[in-house]
Amino acid sequence: MRLLSLTSKAGLLAAVASVAPAPASASNSSYYNPVLPGWHSDPSCTQINGTFYCVTSTFISFPGLPIYASKDLLNWKLISHAWNRESQLPGVSANTTGQQQGMFAATLRHHDGLFYVICEYLGVGDSNLGVVFKSSDPFDNLAWSDPVTFQTDLIDPDLFWDDDGKAYVATQSIVLQEIDLATGKLSQPPIGLWNGTGGVWPEGPHLYKKDGYYYLMIAEGGTETDHSITIARSRNLKGPYEAYENNPILTNRGTDEYFQTVGHGDLFQDAEGNWWGMCLATRSGPEWEVYPMGRETVLFPVKWEEGEWPVLQPVRGQMSGWALPPTNKDLPGHGPFNSDDDFYDFRKGTEIPSNLVHWRVPRQGAFSTTEKGLQIVPSRNNLTGTPFSGTTPELTGQSGLSFIGRRQTHTLFTFSADLSFAPKSVGQEAGVTVFLTQVNHIDLGVVLLAPQSPSFSSNRASGKPQLAFRFRAEGTGVRPEPKIVPIPSAWADEKKIRLQIQTLNATHYSLAAMPVSDPQAKLVIGTASAGLVSGGNGSFVGSLVGAYATCNGAGSGVTCPEGGNAYFSRWRYTGEAQYVSATESILV
Ligand SMILES: *[C@@H]1O[C@H](CO)[C@@H](O)[C@H](O)[C@H]1NC(C)=O
Ligand SMILES: *[C@@H]1O[C@H](CO)[C@@H](O)[C@H](O)[C@H]1NC(C)=O
Ligand SMILES: *[C@@H]1O[C@H](CO)[C@@H](O)[C@H](O)[C@H]1NC(C)=O
Ligand SMILES: *[C@@H]1O[C@H](CO)[C@@H](O)[C@H](O)[C@H]1NC(C)=O
Ligand SMILES: *[C@@H]1O[C@H](CO)[C@@H](O)[C@H](O)[C@H]1NC(C)=O
Ligand SMILES: *[C@@H]1O[C@H](CO)[C@@H](O)[C@H](O)[C@H]1NC(C)=O
Ligand SMILES: *[C@@H]1O[C@H](CO)[C@@H](O)[C@H](O)[C@H]1NC(C)=O
Repeated sequence: MRLLSLTSKAGLLAAVASVAPAPASASNSSYYNPVLPGWHSDPSCTQINGTFYCVTSTFISFPGLPIYASKDLLNWKLISHAWNRESQLPGVSANTTGQQQGMFAATLRHHDGLFYVICEYLGVGDSNLGVVFKSSDPFDNLAWSDPVTFQTDLIDPDLFWDDDGKAYVATQSIVLQEIDLATGKLSQPPIGLWNGTGGVWPEGPHLYKKDGYYYLMIAEGGTETDHSITIARSRNLKGPYEAYENNPILTNRGTDEYFQTVGHGDLFQDAEGNWWGMCLATRSGPEWEVYPMGRETVLFPVKWEEGEWPVLQPVRGQMSGWALPPTNKDLPGHGPFNSDDDFYDFRKGTEIPSNLVHWRVPRQGAFSTTEKGLQIVPSRNNLTGTPFSGTTPELTGQSGLSFIGRRQTHTLFTFSADLSFAPKSVGQEAGVTVFLTQVNHIDLGVVLLAPQSPSFSSNRASGKPQLAFRFRAEGTGVRPEPKIVPIPSAWADEKKIRLQIQTLNATHYSLAAMPVSDPQAKLVIGTASAGLVSGGNGSFVGSLVGAYATCNGAGSGVTCPEGGNAYFSRWRYTGEAQYVSATESILV
């Protein structure tokens, strides 16, 4: 990786400095944040036998609760999802109404040979459900159990075993309950441990026992620019807890840093005994307006001497601290590394790669690999999931949205997919999208439009529906006007059209189409600000780039008219640059 300045006179990306390779293990190392770029909030991590494991929040996306593993703290492989089967929580996903409900912040721990992921699922009817997944092999989706469930409305459960083997759950606010991990039964009443130092939303607790103290580290100030990490300790698990006089121990509140919203983290040791922490941050600058990747995961060194309070190193793009374990990508499992590009052809019979996710559990059979590539059976819901007229209940976007996407993991990237699509009825549409929530997305589709469509005078005369490109965007702030562009007649014999999403710069996307046989004939159909997919209704989540198919409400029930299946092949996502400050980036 090379560090580049964005402000050099050569323009966008010219080298100003190169960083020496990590020195030998005796001396300190340098590295860049974020270490898990893209939408990865609320990391919780642990280390076993020299391998680090983390889980992050996924809200209503599915599969959820990704487990990442690393041997060097910088290369993180997606090894499984703790929530990967509808049968683990039957019916729950489709009933969850909110765009930002679902799997909130989880805790990942290892105890007595088993991995545990504990989480609070929001939006089961009018209430919430605690879930504990267990696994003896986190490299295998199927080894994750069905959850043991527990009843609380409080978010952000921690899981902590005391020396006597009893398991405890600390949650938001911050209260403690003993949990029976076989039944999910919680001791009553909850014991208040600490209210924090006065910031709003004391949450995200984690308990650690060290040198005869119970340390309680929490997030405070809300997950916005006031976010912070604070700590208290006690000689007794149940308190009273004494707050550290130098709280907060980590924050970028009130600074001009590029990395903002720093907070909600977890601490762990490497195999050498050095302490580290991971938490969330937003690459937004203090303006905090354009940050389509949402809350990402950063790594910071921690100095924690015997009997002392931990000292957390402030979060920046360029970091230096304890010697990192040597670079080592030798990990089991077949998931991609988070930093990998996508080169997916979706050959028949191959599995859909595990870094591609849906918005809620998809309908059975909606996505499959075929000889024509990834087949997407359209949903009646379009990405927005709103009815044309009246209130058709199945168009709430919940009974299966035919969307699949991967995280935007780079400040600058190019994504494209080749679409083969021969719609038969008006309203059928397939395309690519930058998707944050159902009310924040930027789409370029191929759509069959009715003959009366005003863009097509010739076609109105012929009385035949016509295929066109349609660019539309939903989101917070100023929306570009929707656009309809006829498909050039010269492309009429193309079997596939390449749809592309590209970052023009850190704040704008360009959406384009080209014939696969002649990419030079590219037509830019629209550009849009990444502000549309930053914060607002999607402040907890982060952008996904991917593909969709819909019939825009035609058909009935959850079924579209026949003939509108879309086939995507040659799916390519290429990362181009990662910003580490407002003026510097690294080439990737
Ligand atoms: C850690 O290493 C021990 C000793 O080799 C082994 O028994 C155990 O299964 C390993 N645990 C994990 C999670 O790798
Ligand atoms: C989902 O909602 C339906 C309709 O309200 C209800 O019958 C069903 O029990 C719910 N399922 C779950 C798992 O909450
Ligand atoms: C936290 O605040 C509540 C409400 O003011 C109070 O009842 C409770 O005792 C406090 N808890 C602790 C541990 O101080
Ligand atoms: C090495 O890193 C640790 C952890 O950040 C820090 O406490 C220490 O001062 C660093 N040492 C040097 C020589 O920079
Ligand atoms: C589909 O999406 C668009 C914009 O995202 C919306 O305006 C439209 O009404 C939606 N529904 C149908 C059924 O077309
Ligand atoms: C990014 O691109 C948009 C669209 O072309 C442009 O309006 C904006 O000024 C550019 N921003 C920068 C910092 O160059
Ligand atoms: C989006 O946010 C607005 C303003 O807070 C709110 O009224 C609306 O219900 C939200 N929409 C969704 C789908 O969450």
